[in-house]
Amino acid sequence: MTQSMRQDWAGQVDFDRLPRHIAIIMDGNGRWAKQRGLPRTAGHKVGSETFRKIATCCRDLGIEHLTVYAFSTENWKRSEDEVGAIMRLLKQYLLEAIESMERDNIRLRFLGDLSAIAPELRKLVERTNAISERMTGFQANICLNYGGRDEIVRAVRAFAADCAAGKKSAEELTEQDFACYLDSRGIPDPELIIRPSGEERISNFLLWQCAYSEFYFCDTLWPDFDEEALKQAIISYQRRDRRFGGVK
Ligand code: FPP
Repeated sequence: MTQSMRQDWAGQVDFDRLPRHIAIIMDGNGRWAKQRGLPRTAGHKVGSETFRKIATCCRDLGIEHLTVYAFSTENWKRSEDEVGAIMRLLKQYLLEAIESMERDNIRLRFLGDLSAIAPELRKLVERTNAISERMTGFQANICLNYGGRDEIVRAVRAFAADCAAGKKSAEELTEQDFACYLDSRGIPDPELIIRPSGEERISNFLLWQCAYSEFYFCDTLWPDFDEEALKQAIISYQRRDRRFGGVK
């Protein structure tokens, strides 16, 4: 974030009341490409650059977590060509991250069932995990082969296994205990969830974690989403009256 950008934000955004965690459904890559007569994969390529730009902006703002929906459990229904292109973009991103995350003090975390991911990509994930363990700064969480229901079912299975082994008791389970079985363990719930591209649905994203999130929808397609669009989302978030079921 440049000095002039910070000045532009200063009058409109309260830097002391930023969300700790922003989550984004990076939607609209396909339509962006179609509008330009390009293959869908070209939209994903520009979309991955948008992710880099927005992650840098979040880091500069001091936001602790950015979570993005990169590939859902349902996305396997797409053509082999498109799935392959998204996986290649992720691989490219991880290769770059391995080179730069130490210097930038950045952590990466993956949410989702990685057992179905190609071994080559999984190895890169393991390498970034090992670097992340030593880092303390901004954390980007990438949802990969992720579905909110799938995450909850995998958590229930793990909890049931602990009960069967006598390590846990079902009667004593609390919401906090259960959250420790989710992929998102240790990550604060997102205060703000953004979905660009004009769609207004959750699409199996962070179902447990979004209980009290503020939602922000806009028409911009993800490849066109920029710092200005992020600023508008944060301004909208800061205007909301968050009561968490109580009364102010
Ligand atoms: C949704 O748009 C986008 C995806 C399913 C893929 C998102 C993946 C990337 C941006 C690339 C890799 C990510 C990282 C973090 C480097 P859509 O294809 O559903 O668009 P449409 O609704 O217009 O068809």
